[in-house]
Amino acid sequence: MKIILTKDYDELSRTAFKEFDKIVKSEEKPRVGFATGSSPLGLYKEIVNNYSTNKGSYENVDVFNLDEYIGLPENDKNKYSAFLKNNIFNKADFSEENIDLILHNNENIEQECKRYHDILINNPLNLQILGLGANCHIGFNEPGTSFDSVTHIVDLKEETRQSNARFFDSIEEVPTQAITVGIREIMSAENIILVASGQDKADAVHKMLNDEINNTCPASILRVHKSVTVILDEAAASLL
Ligand code: GLP
Repeated sequence: MKIILTKDYDELSRTAFKEFDKIVKSEEKPRVGFATGSSPLGLYKEIVNNYSTNKGSYENVDVFNLDEYIGLPENDKNKYSAFLKNNIFNKADFSEENIDLILHNNENIEQECKRYHDILINNPLNLQILGLGANCHIGFNEPGTSFDSVTHIVDLKEETRQSNARFFDSIEEVPTQAITVGIREIMSAENIILVASGQDKADAVHKMLNDEINNTCPASILRVHKSVTVILDEAAASLL
């Protein structure tokens, strides 16, 4: 595991972009899993900026995502597919035909879990981008999730709903369930970049890097992956 300490969120995002760029450029047709949440937003701005100012192209990237709420209306801005389109895919030259997001074209949830599992296991990603939940979750793999889990439906923990409520008008609007790519599929990606920023994440970062590897902190399993880069700002690293 490579750990990179940066001074602030801007430096974290530029550093994450350099790592992303290296991996994406090394593949003819890179397969990338994009995470939602505020943590990777700076990285996504860097990608968009590379497209608009340096003519960096992403039309060859095969795009996947990590998780999606269940039960939000099709046009809801909080759908993770909408978030990713608005913040990255529609702002650079990602090609519609290369984008395959969870629940985008298939409303049958059980079938969709199986479909996504088959995609990720039969043809592993070159890169999975991750954020980190304040309770140590990755994707929506909450504490207690088996390290063997594959794409599945989750009941969201109350603390996760509370911490995501900032994007909604009220806590009642936050879905109670989601689909998440499982820990086994995350671990099958060739490379992983995890970004964590801010004091809220300091405790989870400390647990991920120092506690015994077990599923009370799902992110701790990343320590046995062969190519993980963890990029932290000073606040997220403050308990190390
Ligand atoms: C959310 C998402 C995760 C994300 C995490 C952290 O619940 N399911 O994919 O990494 O929580 O989010 P943020 O980066 O906004 O703190």
